[in-house]
Amino acid sequence: MPPILEVKELVKKYGDFTAVNRVSFDIQEGEIFSLLGPNGAGKTTTISILSTLYSPNGGEAYIAGHSVTKEPMAVRNIIGVVPQDLALYEDLTARENLAFWGRMYGLAGRTLETRINEVLEQIGLSDKARQRVKTYSGGMKRRVNIGVGLLHKPKVLFMDEPTVGIDPQSRRAILDSVKDLNKTGMTVLYTTHYMEEAAELSDRVGIIDHGELIALGTQAELTQQVGKDETLILHIGADEDAEALAKSLKDIPGVLQANATDHEVTVIAHQAEEILAPVVGRANERGIKIHSLDIREPNLEAVFLHLTGRALRD
Ligand SMILES: Nc1ncnc2c1ncn2[C@@H]1O[C@H](COP(=O)(O)OP(=O)(O)OP(=O)(O)O)[C@@H](O)[C@H]1O
Ligand SMILES: [Mg+2]
Repeated sequence: MPPILEVKELVKKYGDFTAVNRVSFDIQEGEIFSLLGPNGAGKTTTISILSTLYSPNGGEAYIAGHSVTKEPMAVRNIIGVVPQDLALYEDLTARENLAFWGRMYGLAGRTLETRINEVLEQIGLSDKARQRVKTYSGGMKRRVNIGVGLLHKPKVLFMDEPTVGIDPQSRRAILDSVKDLNKTGMTVLYTTHYMEEAAELSDRVGIIDHGELIALGTQAELTQQVGKDETLILHIGADEDAEALAKSLKDIPGVLQANATDHEVTVIAHQAEEILAPVVGRANERGIKIHSLDIREPNLEAVFLHLTGRALRD
């Protein structure tokens, strides 16, 4: 089977600045493919070209055999787009937003009505559909935004960082709905800078940085590249200064990277066991109590660090 999406040597420049630099990858029908990369890596620019919003300065992409530059209308019929920035009317209800966008896609009458009801069901908002969007939580808005992308039953769905800035429960609901959609046969191109999401969802991952695709493969293939670097996770209290602790760990011999996230400090080392004692020592010096410790096998975060010398999340 030919790939449902083919990206060949795509280039996009903004003036002198190259935002996407000869990016190539394929997606097979039925796959979930993640583009994983930090802020400014070129994820949205790539999606914008694939969804026919921007023209590339070089290269080409095909979706189900249609060129994104020469057959934009055919491409738009096949794809659904969930943009990074919410495209919703706050003064309209969820139902009215879906109706508006449905008409833009050429749906009308009974067909539109049925589709709206199905989509509301899929995004779990049937009972709140008559409330104005401005009364919704961030997570509910994100779900309506996804609903818009599903209205015309696309074969391929582009989701650009669909979980940014939402509560854990909504994030869980969105990740589960991506998996459910994929089970119905939808191919998904998902962008994120959260390693955990790419790891949970993806059949294959492309890692993008400074406009270049620096790694491509299944997670197993990618993590093989880094050898055995391990990740040590320190769980600390919410009121502790995780940032300061992470900083203080960076000069311990054997520590390759230390980063703070919510209630956690993540430390990457060739061997977690070797750095354990000095790491715990530093926490003690600062009077920070470590509630628990995990050691994780090589992961995508470690792959990114290995390839760039930087952390995925700064
Ligand atoms: N319209 C524009 N004009 C000029 N530069 C732009 C424009 N859009 C994006 N850029 C730049 O191109 C680079 C890639 O941006 P892009 O939005 O594609 O990154 P991203 O991976 O989606 O990042 P994020 O995770 O922050 O959404 C960035 O350096 C950005 O500042
Ligand atoms: Mg983006």
